[in-house]
Amino acid sequence: MLIRDYSLLGHNTFGMDVKAAAYFEYTSKEALRTFLLSSDFEPYRECFLVIGAGSNLLFRKDYDGLVLHSAIRDLDIIEETDDGVLVRVGSGVCWDDFVAWSVERNLHGAENLSGIPGEVGASAVQNIGAYGAEVCQLIERVEALGLDGEERLFSNEECNYGYRDSIFKRELKGKYIITAVTYRLCKQGNLNLSYGNLRERVEGTTVNDVREAVCSLRASKLPDPHTLGNAGSFFKNPVIPRWQYEHLRDVWPSIPCYKVDDENVKVPAGWLIEQCGWKGCALGRAAVHEHQALVLVNLGGATGGEVVSLARHIVEDVHNKFGIEISPEVNVI
Ligand code: EPU
Repeated sequence: MLIRDYSLLGHNTFGMDVKAAAYFEYTSKEALRTFLLSSDFEPYRECFLVIGAGSNLLFRKDYDGLVLHSAIRDLDIIEETDDGVLVRVGSGVCWDDFVAWSVERNLHGAENLSGIPGEVGASAVQNIGAYGAEVCQLIERVEALGLDGEERLFSNEECNYGYRDSIFKRELKGKYIITAVTYRLCKQGNLNLSYGNLRERVEGTTVNDVREAVCSLRASKLPDPHTLGNAGSFFKNPVIPRWQYEHLRDVWPSIPCYKVDDENVKVPAGWLIEQCGWKGCALGRAAVHEHQALVLVNLGGATGGEVVSLARHIVEDVHNKFGIEISPEVNVI
């Protein structure tokens, strides 16, 4: 059923008290197709937004269009071999419920991505990543409906995955709605403990030990959106040429980096922001989190405009100090 004038307060982890002109939730691919072909969708063809758990979104104001939300929550093993399984998961399944499900069965692949807020559909759009893993390493294929109700299957290669990037954020933005994602998980495998101090935190040898370590690391740095509105990392970590990094390191010897390829490195935006003195600072009711400068928080009652204004100041300061342009990871609507 199409609901008009719908509050999005419970649908965005930044806690913005905004409304959508209309809202539609579907529990199956067929229900979505029927809706897309109905006259109810017609006025919104050019003005709709598909949301997951709203954990990577910042609304600046009421949304004058249609918000679509998947409540497709199937989860099935569709193929099993001696080595692993293919699991087909509905786009509306909570991402971390899927990780918990896989860890309970001792399946390898998703454990480093424990505790990431959001839903399965968004995982495939955003190519979520953490602790040395990215979801594109697990994705076998993505099922979606075009706006004409036609079904399309995307292979992993067709999704054009990059750092927090995919074809669904670029060429195909607003053209397809994801209904299910199939992930490949392994029955055995080496644990991926190379990121930062993860190895020191993991107390055993199972995927569950990794999950526990990742969850505790996240809890120590990232604010819980139930108590402090936020959308995780607000900015992407910028990728810069190695020569530029080397110049910067002459001035700031402690500047961290991660190798991207032979020519480029990724620099933690959180470090850059902290060096600019923003960590723990507020501008109005929006602030930079005290334990992780990459995360902007809503201290209570902040508007989207206040968060955007804080973000602008930060971008400018980072640019002036380091000559690096940082850009939002969060979708600003
Ligand atoms: N750092 C600082 N100050 C800060 C924050 C970080 O100096 O305030 C330094 C740390 O000391 C460390 C480096 O920056 O040397 C990296 O920090 P961290 O491991 O916390 O990771 P990140 O680069 O800040 C990325 C992802 C996170 C993910 C973590 C862990 C992006 C944009 N963010 O953050 O993802 O959880 O790695 O893998 O890539 C998200 O996307 O919402 C998110 C939380």
